[in-house]
Amino acid sequence: MNISYAKVYSLKEGDFSRTLGSSILNFLKSKNYKVNSVLDVACGTGEFVSVLRNGCVDVSGIDFEKAMINIAKKNVPDVNFSVAPLFEFDLGRTFDLISMNYETVNFALDFDALVKLFANVARHLNNGGIFVFDFLTPFADIKNDFKFDESSDFDYFKRLSVAENIYTKTEIIYQLTTQNYKKIKNVENRRVWSVDDIKKALAVNGFYNHNFVDYSLNVLKKPKKTSRVHVLVYKK
Ligand SMILES: C[S@@+](CC[C@H](N)C(=O)[O-])C[C@H]1O[C@@H](n2cnc3c(N)ncnc32)[C@H](O)[C@@H]1O
Repeated sequence: MNISYAKVYSLKEGDFSRTLGSSILNFLKSKNYKVNSVLDVACGTGEFVSVLRNGCVDVSGIDFEKAMINIAKKNVPDVNFSVAPLFEFDLGRTFDLISMNYETVNFALDFDALVKLFANVARHLNNGGIFVFDFLTPFADIKNDFKFDESSDFDYFKRLSVAENIYTKTEIIYQLTTQNYKKIKNVENRRVWSVDDIKKALAVNGFYNHNFVDYSLNVLKKPKKTSRVHVLVYKK
């Protein structure tokens, strides 16, 4: 197998958004929300939409990495995938639900970028539409986290370090086939956000009725002191 970062992402990190997708689908059913159209922003290899398409008819995903989109297209052929930038995507249409999972909001490195990101989501949402996302807060314990994993095809290292409010994720993959040894490195910078900053950036863009919940969508009693917060919020 020829290893790429996108392939390893699909194998190692896919569970998070597939499980979340099931919870969201159950939540929509339990509330009798009719959601026809869904857009997953920074959809990666399409894990979240692979579940959402079981309950919604018009499902799209965008990501800025072509390699991610290529795998997503193979994983979930009946979804509309395209390559688009995170902060300036313009699809010329609106959706009933927009999702931004697995710390994508943390790619906003300053408050203006955060407001711009939410403004673009609002522009693509129908009135009364739902925005679902998660983010890491300053309570996240991300100091020098280190993970090593191996499979028959590759070794995978992941390291997180934090300075001020910015955390850097470094992932290194070694392909192990002797004829085709390859090292792939992926480095991403993100910023932890407080619940108050997230609330402010949402309010500026006309979102209301915030639900701060955990990964299983149970309401958080102390969201400000939680490391990862999931949010369900509505557009006026
Ligand atoms: C942690 S992954 C999350 C993927 C997917 N949402 C999921 O839940 O599995 C972050 C994704 O953001 C994409 N990404 C990183 N920087 C980006 C940027 N500046 N603009 C758009 N997408 C970006 C990456 O390609 C990657 O697919």
